[in-house]
Amino acid sequence: MILSAFTAGRRNGNCEIYVKEALMAAEKKGIEVRLYRLTEYNLRPCIACPVLFCPASSDITKCVAKDDAPFLAEAFLDSDGVIFAAPAYSLTANSLFFAFRDKVFGPKMDIAGPMTGMPEPPFIKGRYKHRPCGLISVGGCLHEHWTGFSLAELHTAVMSAQNEVVDHMNVYGIAQIDAAAVNDEWLEKARKLGSNVADAMLTGDNSWRGGERGSCPSCHLDLIQIKPGTDDVMCPLCGIYGKISVKDGVTTLDWPDTPECRQENRFTVEGKVFHLHDINDCMTAFEPFAEQAKEKAKKYREYKSCIVAPPRRSE
Ligand SMILES: Cc1cc2nc3c(=O)[nH]c(=O)nc-3n(C[C@H](O)[C@H](O)[C@H](O)COP(=O)(O)O)c2cc1C
Repeated sequence: MILSAFTAGRRNGNCEIYVKEALMAAEKKGIEVRLYRLTEYNLRPCIACPVLFCPASSDITKCVAKDDAPFLAEAFLDSDGVIFAAPAYSLTANSLFFAFRDKVFGPKMDIAGPMTGMPEPPFIKGRYKHRPCGLISVGGCLHEHWTGFSLAELHTAVMSAQNEVVDHMNVYGIAQIDAAAVNDEWLEKARKLGSNVADAMLTGDNSWRGGERGSCPSCHLDLIQIKPGTDDVMCPLCGIYGKISVKDGVTTLDWPDTPECRQENRFTVEGKVFHLHDINDCMTAFEPFAEQAKEKAKKYREYKSCIVAPPRRSE
């Protein structure tokens, strides 16, 4: 069994230390481990060809932006479990991680199509599976709120291929190179994360093993959005809805487990199928306006005097 870790942190940096600690723990359980340092790969951002015509969706090597994404996609598809790690940059995961997410995952790895009878993209070669996943976010500021979105954004990369997060860690206060090596508490958590992913791979049980459950029963994070003037709450990451109540200063969250609620959860297979129907409905609703839209968009296409050309480098 192969556990592949993809890190967007610096070479020999803090993410890498935690990832290696996790991999060492998994290796002790007989798992073959592989580490991909994304800084060493050429990854260009997705430039969003129209989704239906994304050339990479049927052949991952045919993306118009040529880079190492096909190699990394193969590495992912050949694995039985995964770890994703990224540093926090301006509260979010860093842009290298986003390039990795958009080029390797997204619609082309989405399992919803084949689940609804559409043909599997040929490059998948029968390798759809529910891989257990561990996520590691590392921030350098002493206050946790400086990592507000970074761990949540690692979750967004697991969505389309239906990886299942069994553990995650949101490290903060670890900034300088090698700082990760002297904080025993976080190292212990990383070891546990590696061990948890390995156990899930070995048993086939991808249920949550990360200990403390956050406010959201699905992602176990505390990102809850409250709609002012109502008792409605939503997890902006998973998309699920619930109710909030406060009694004697104690907050209670209630997340109904109805089919309607389950289909809103984009981390479930049902949620992805619902989303696929949603996209199809959106496209169908637009069809009667397509000609009119083309005509009306003409003036924007033709208005070019405001565009500043990039500098041309003479090499
Ligand atoms: C451009 C940039 C922005 C950063 N922004 C944040 C931030 O918003 N919050 C935070 O906690 N740390 C921030 N950091 C610090 C890094 O997250 C921290 O140094 C981390 O340990 C880097 O991980 P690495 O060694 O694996 O690359 C930032 C670092 C850089 C270079």
